[in-house]
Amino acid sequence: MTLNVMTEISKLDQIIKPSGTMLISNKARELREKGKPVIGFGAGEPDFASPEYVVKAAINAAKDPKNHKYSPVAGLESLRKAISNSVMSHSKYAVEPSNIVVTNGGKQAILTALMSLLDRGDEVIIPSPYWTTYPEATLLAGGKPRFIETSKENDFKISINDLEKIKTDKSKVLIWCSPSNPTGVVYAKNEAEEIYDWVFKNNMWILSDELYEHLIYEGETTPSPAIIDKDLNNTVIVNGVSKAYAMTGWRVGWLIANNKVINLAKKIQSQATSNVSNISQLAAEAALTNGLEITQKMKIAFDRRRRFALEKINAINYLSCIKATGAFYLFVDVSHYCTGLIPAVNSSDDFCNWLLEKYFIAFVPGEVFGAPGYMRLSYALNDEDLSEGLNRLEKAIKDISG
Ligand SMILES: Cc1ncc(COP(=O)(O)O)c(C=O)c1O
Repeated sequence: MTLNVMTEISKLDQIIKPSGTMLISNKARELREKGKPVIGFGAGEPDFASPEYVVKAAINAAKDPKNHKYSPVAGLESLRKAISNSVMSHSKYAVEPSNIVVTNGGKQAILTALMSLLDRGDEVIIPSPYWTTYPEATLLAGGKPRFIETSKENDFKISINDLEKIKTDKSKVLIWCSPSNPTGVVYAKNEAEEIYDWVFKNNMWILSDELYEHLIYEGETTPSPAIIDKDLNNTVIVNGVSKAYAMTGWRVGWLIANNKVINLAKKIQSQATSNVSNISQLAAEAALTNGLEITQKMKIAFDRRRRFALEKINAINYLSCIKATGAFYLFVDVSHYCTGLIPAVNSSDDFCNWLLEKYFIAFVPGEVFGAPGYMRLSYALNDEDLSEGLNRLEKAIKDISG
């Protein structure tokens, strides 16, 4: 037998990047394993355990042999009914269970939605800074990401003018995320409605990622485009239980769309994964049918930490961040320290590595979100660690300033 050199793998290898937020978490974990007292500001997940009633529902589900079998690709009927009821009560629009597909987390819902909407070469407009998965999922679905650069001065918000400038006859989808990961920005109702109106008028799709809809601390949350586009002619919604119910590990999300999109999404899912784990689906159902009390409890803690972190960061020399009112992130301008002031630190990536290696504090560099010169801070960590971690950041800056 002749052994040859390895046959080429897919060119996707040169196109797709790994999740940047995972890279920093891995590096922080390695240092922790070596006994270093690392404090992580990188995690995009609540530091709370999932509610007790969720865990109980999962245990009961695991004991029932019915749940040991395949179930409908679109998700259990009872969960889709619970999603429909929750959407009606909390998001203020009506959706039939038949217009929902349950997915392995919001992340899979985004990829499936983009695969359902795009043809090769179609353009997806992505406001930048963006959540790291959007461009990669666009590329995986054969689309072309087109970025709208936003600025701190405009609270990282896009305008109609920006949309007009970037639109081509290939523009097919606008990705929309408010409250935003990574900036924590929340669009006001009138601002959002202006954007929705533009998308509908231009006969494009809006892919609205509503994972953080319940995590806002001041004012009102952004209304969903589905409130206006009742027939979902131009709207696809992505949501899930990860953030609002502290259930990131259970991997339950969903997409909401019209029949045509749903049928294609079901075809894709039937070939890719079949149903989501029945145990996780029944756990998610327990979360949704027990209301938002758990979310309110987390919100009180997140808000306290948000206010503390905002004050502390903005008091540090040449660091600043806008007053984020949603999700659990601050997006900190660190550009002053990315120009060689610290030996071998010439970017926010270098700056974050320096903070991790020298002060054992882990932040996610802005490069991951398309915004060099910034770093993302997640305040979903306990109060003591938050305080100690920010004291270390303050000390790091004092050490440079002499
Ligand atoms: C904006 C946004 N959308 C979607 C997701 C996906 O969440 P999951 O796949 O855990 O449901 C995340 C997770 O970090 C997110 O931040």
